[in-house]
Amino acid sequence: MIVDVALGMRAYPIHIAPGLLGAAAPVLGPFARNQRLVVVTDESVAALHLETLAAGLPSVTIEPIILPPGEATKDWAHLQLVVERLLELGVERSDAVVALGGGVIGDLVGFACSMLKRGCRFVQVPTTLLSQVDSSVGGKTAINAKAGKNLVGAFHQPVAVLIDPAVLATLPRRELMAGYAEVVKYGLINDAAFFGWCEANGAALLDGDATAQIHAIAHSCRAKAAVVAADERETDDIRALLNLGHTFGHAFEAETGFSSRLLHGEAVALGMVQAFRLSARLGLCPQSDAERVAAHLAGLGFTIEPAALGLNCTAARLVEHMKQDKKMSAGRLAFILARGIGQSFVSRDVELADVEAFLAEQLTG
Ligand code: GLY
Repeated sequence: MIVDVALGMRAYPIHIAPGLLGAAAPVLGPFARNQRLVVVTDESVAALHLETLAAGLPSVTIEPIILPPGEATKDWAHLQLVVERLLELGVERSDAVVALGGGVIGDLVGFACSMLKRGCRFVQVPTTLLSQVDSSVGGKTAINAKAGKNLVGAFHQPVAVLIDPAVLATLPRRELMAGYAEVVKYGLINDAAFFGWCEANGAALLDGDATAQIHAIAHSCRAKAAVVAADERETDDIRALLNLGHTFGHAFEAETGFSSRLLHGEAVALGMVQAFRLSARLGLCPQSDAERVAAHLAGLGFTIEPAALGLNCTAARLVEHMKQDKKMSAGRLAFILARGIGQSFVSRDVELADVEAFLAEQLTG
């Protein structure tokens, strides 16, 4: 199936089909100049999927750029390495570089392409659930800086996204769960019926049910495409809703050193529970909705209690982490709160003292 991201001159299709990775010629073939495509990936993804991609493009020569796996690759050094290698390979503005991998590869390659010769095209081929339902769509590209994650980047839309849900069969369950948190997010933001679908089908999805995975990916991509089309650069409080759970999540990620102790998606799940609990505490949202969100995620094995992280920090320190949010404006933090499941909204009226008192309770369990 094809989901369109309606962005006028920058519109592009998201192609979704199981087996697409090994049958990518109709999508990627037209982007191969002189029958050649540059594919940037990492060692783990290359070992699992590069051969399959190449086999489906028999008349195309693949020029691979293979990077180390992991978040540490999203840095200045690897950005420079990719840009220099793309120049050596003679990539032109009208060429399309293929980013094959998870969010690290997609963000890094997208950013490299945003600056190469003042901007060349790229295609996202996401291989994790998180990148398939969120980061490959919408054109946010970045690397990490000393001061924080994703602080240096650009909006640069891909020219196509190619999603093969079958690749999820090779994804560790923990990574699948991390991506699933972003799927649930779309229900919590503005689609209560989809949250109901998650309650009914989340366990099957995590157990590898292909039909559930394809439905979740297609639904999430449609939701994200609509948000991006309405507010490409996050200026109208529409795209900001995609940050539900991220402000709390960021604080927990920062406190755990952005390490494998707490994956981004796990932090988002934890953060969404905190956002709903805070909304209930502020009298904005029924307590029963906050409990329903927590019950769904806990039932699937997510950590939803900050106390369970075993952090040795104060609530004030978590609030300090929140203040490093790059979306902080005029000294105020934009919190995504909810009036109920599927009724999220942006609030700049939250007092950080209230957040600190709330977190102090949450940390003690
Ligand atoms: N991942 C949030 C966004 O794309 O805006």
